[in-house]
Amino acid sequence: MDRWLSFGLLLLCSCSLLMVPGAVAWSKEGHMMTCRIAQALLEPEAAEAVQNLLPHHVDGDLSALCIWPDQIRHWYKYRWTSPLHFIDTPDDACSFDYARDCHDSHGLQDMCVAGAVKNFTSQLMHYKEGTGDRRYNMTEALLFLSHFMGDIHQPMHVGFTTDRGGNTAELRWFRHKSNLHHVWDREIVLTAMKEYYDKDMELLLQDIERNYTDGIWSDDVSSWQHCNEISQCVNRWARESIQIACKWAYKGVEPGMTLADDYFNSRMPYVMKRIAQGGVRLSMILNQVFGDPEEGFAAAT
Ligand SMILES: *[C@@H]1O[C@H](CO)[C@@H](O)[C@H](O)[C@H]1NC(C)=O
Ligand SMILES: *[C@@H]1O[C@H](CO)[C@@H](O)[C@H](O)[C@H]1NC(C)=O
Ligand SMILES: *[C@@H]1O[C@H](CO)[C@@H](O)[C@H](O)[C@H]1NC(C)=O
Repeated sequence: MDRWLSFGLLLLCSCSLLMVPGAVAWSKEGHMMTCRIAQALLEPEAAEAVQNLLPHHVDGDLSALCIWPDQIRHWYKYRWTSPLHFIDTPDDACSFDYARDCHDSHGLQDMCVAGAVKNFTSQLMHYKEGTGDRRYNMTEALLFLSHFMGDIHQPMHVGFTTDRGGNTAELRWFRHKSNLHHVWDREIVLTAMKEYYDKDMELLLQDIERNYTDGIWSDDVSSWQHCNEISQCVNRWARESIQIACKWAYKGVEPGMTLADDYFNSRMPYVMKRIAQGGVRLSMILNQVFGDPEEGFAAAT
């Protein structure tokens, strides 16, 4: 309980922490929106399981803890989670190959965001076995899965190796200093909120929700959700990310440049779509692992 209390305090000051340039992961806003979208799409059984796993102080709101994995990744106890936020692919290859790319910097296999999504999905599949003999902390598994489903959809989290997913590509975003990774993590979301949504995340979220329920993406949602075997799905999602990274994030960008209106307007739709896809697919996984076993994944390993 103490840890959750101090987490609450951390959350209060996290705005300033997240302003640090080079902070890595969808911004607070990106992760919160992904989790809000997912939670709204849960079927009753999954909604109840999520409710049971969340600590009381968040009052049933998953999105309040979706940035927790970013906050603990440097703690000694959780240092092993640090490589799980991203994938480094070979420079300019513009492809993802699980065997080639999903490892940490020491070459340990599976230690990347695709391996993490598989790992925490299969841990949560044991939730229904009851409280007696659980090897894993199901609350942590839920929070990690919810966070990493956001990260695997952030195109620059499946970026090139040499520039650490754009983190070392320093440039200007309109008038201030930033880097290419951070532009995709946060700058585009914040500029969109400022330009079109009265700086109000709720209004942006409503617009995203409208676009997948009855708008530009509503015909695509069922194909987004399609997933028979989680290990193939994570490969597909990571591949989508590196392809967007190559075509839309890296293309035409050199360190030292200034990115402004043209870049913002043409890239914003991709950022919004990735946030929506991350949320829709997170709900799909949670509905499968917590729902009717007859309809769930073929046993994930
Ligand atoms: C899976 O989770 C366990 C702890 O819950 C951890 O020890 C292991 O390293 C994780 N592996 C991956 C690929 O996430
Ligand atoms: C599970 O993890 C959470 C967050 O780290 C912690 O607060 C809680 O005490 C853990 N539960 C168990 C049963 O260890
Ligand atoms: C929603 O769709 C409209 C087009 O109908 C588009 O102008 C708007 O930018 C979209 N909003 C988001 C957040 O993607």
